[in-house]
Amino acid sequence: MRRRVQVLEILFLLLCTFCHSIQSNYTSLFSFGDSYTDTGNIVIISGEAAPNLLLTKPPYGMTFFGHPTGRISDGRLAIDFIAQALGLPLLPPSQATNHSFLQGANFAVAGGTALNRTFFLENGYQIFTPYNVSLGDQLGWFDAMKPSLCNSTQACEEYFAKALFVVGEFGWNDYGFMLLSGRRVDEIRSHTPQVVGMICAATEKLIEEGGKTVVVSGLTPMGCATGNLVLFGSQNEADYEPDTGCLKDLNSLSRDHNLQLRRVLMQLNCKYPDCPPTNTEHVP
Ligand SMILES: *[C@@H]1O[C@H](CO)[C@@H](O)[C@H](O)[C@H]1NC(C)=O
Ligand SMILES: *[C@@H]1O[C@H](CO)[C@@H](O)[C@H](O)[C@H]1NC(C)=O
Ligand SMILES: *[C@@H]1O[C@H](CO)[C@@H](O)[C@H](O)[C@H]1NC(C)=O
Ligand SMILES: *[C@@H]1O[C@H](CO)[C@@H](O)[C@H](O)[C@H]1NC(C)=O
Ligand SMILES: *[C@@H]1O[C@H](CO)[C@@H](O)[C@H](O)[C@H]1NC(C)=O
Repeated sequence: MRRRVQVLEILFLLLCTFCHSIQSNYTSLFSFGDSYTDTGNIVIISGEAAPNLLLTKPPYGMTFFGHPTGRISDGRLAIDFIAQALGLPLLPPSQATNHSFLQGANFAVAGGTALNRTFFLENGYQIFTPYNVSLGDQLGWFDAMKPSLCNSTQACEEYFAKALFVVGEFGWNDYGFMLLSGRRVDEIRSHTPQVVGMICAATEKLIEEGGKTVVVSGLTPMGCATGNLVLFGSQNEADYEPDTGCLKDLNSLSRDHNLQLRRVLMQLNCKYPDCPPTNTEHVP
């Protein structure tokens, strides 16, 4: 099952490339991430506070589902299109009760970070989610779910060999929380090896579980996001890329993250030559 998807410029191109080559051979799909991929966990985790979340009201869900679903979108997310392309059901949020997860589960939660709460507190950053929803926490939920999916080491390895794992995007909230804590990009940049290291460690864990195909997503250009342009805008024209109007230092943070991620995944690739993780990238 050796597969590679070359680094592509946009996610959509990637989806189309991959529907041709891997259609219907995966029997399940497991996803980890943040609001780019959350299909409802944040609403379940928020419990009584959920009605206060904007995403539980229209226009969320209007374009496709006809009602809000807990996705931070008015329609489907990339992970939904992946599930559909593979002929699998739309991924249920892992926190849903009374649900079979044999065809996959989505552990992603809006506000999810690669690094955990302890990291943010120890480094004096504010963490803008009240919940423990980091990648490490999501992997803990995966471990807790495992007995309902497979019951012996061998059975689990066989089961996960036929699964597609999607890790990420992670990093956006890590860097976003640091920025919102008022820190400079120069300082934030020094944490990229830790962010990327955690993503790589998670990828390795999934391979150790028996996973043969892990898609690891890179960061979109943070300096082009509308919200960031408003929150972190500058009076100085030199802070913007002349051709795109995006913030230079935030795009450079994304680019550097993606380069480092690709580097550590290539090292992992050498360690597990039979199951190379696939790195997708959103290039500014
Ligand atoms: C998918 O499975 C079929 C039948 O098992 C096999 O012939 C085909 O090569 C597989 N495709 C890929 C991309 O592995
Ligand atoms: C679980 O799902 C079954 C079948 O859809 C339904 O009959 C049952 O009432 C559900 N139980 C709970 C606690 O939601
Ligand atoms: C947070 O992450 C660090 C580094 O991976 C780890 O050593 C620590 O145990 C984690 N803490 C919690 C509470 O999960
Ligand atoms: C999050 O984890 C920390 C330990 O790292 C714990 O003290 C805290 O109560 C947890 N918070 C929630 C909301 O579960
Ligand atoms: C694993 O064993 C437990 C306890 O016997 C059982 O409830 C569960 O359904 C089993 N899971 C699978 C996937 O066979």
